[in-house]
Amino acid sequence: MRIDIITVVPDMLKSPFEASIMKRSIEKGLVDVQFHNLRDYTTNTYKQVDDYQFGGGAGMVMMIEPIDKCISKLTSERDYDEIIYMTPDGETLHQGMANQLSLKNNVILLCGHYKGVDQRVRDQFITKEISIGDYVLSGGELGALILCDAIIRLIPGVLGNETSALTDSFQDNLLAPPIYTRPANYKGWKVPEVLTSGNFPKIETWREEQAYLRTKERRPDLLKD
Ligand code: ADE
Repeated sequence: MRIDIITVVPDMLKSPFEASIMKRSIEKGLVDVQFHNLRDYTTNTYKQVDDYQFGGGAGMVMMIEPIDKCISKLTSERDYDEIIYMTPDGETLHQGMANQLSLKNNVILLCGHYKGVDQRVRDQFITKEISIGDYVLSGGELGALILCDAIIRLIPGVLGNETSALTDSFQDNLLAPPIYTRPANYKGWKVPEVLTSGNFPKIETWREEQAYLRTKERRPDLLKD
């Protein structure tokens, strides 16, 4: 999978891809992430990529020209499955969206800054708009990183069997059950006996029950679907 991220602050994005699972996915050749600094696509002497709003009002707007130049260059080089704009008024990210996006080959992520982008960018180029939650960030970059992490860990081969994404919370609309590791007794705080019983059908049933109970208690909304 190739992910092209368009941003005015590429430095903000790099380090998460230099550690842990995202780093390994790149080393294994399963993911190629490229950063594009929008300022490299402006003809403006001061490398300005934003301007005042027509009609007045506080806050700057990202101009269409550098974004058009950058997206047009990328789309002339390969076909893209999605051109995604990170924005608080997009569809809220959920596991199902991450599952679907993990099956794509080429994706562009456009990170908004200031008040956002000129509406014509959204009308002409964007195929999907994603929010990571009902709060406003200073830009789309952190949202893009969260989206990348959620997608990349689902790409076949990125996680080993021992960390399989299939048992994650939300994969079956349930939260994950409680988990424990050694020692089985720490200061008298014991692990549930069933987990050390070696009876695997019983363990499976216990985990299913616990996942259901946890979901009912913490996220009853998930059980409505
Ligand atoms: N940009 C600013 N706020 C955002 C949010 N909540 N999700 C995605 N992109 C954003």
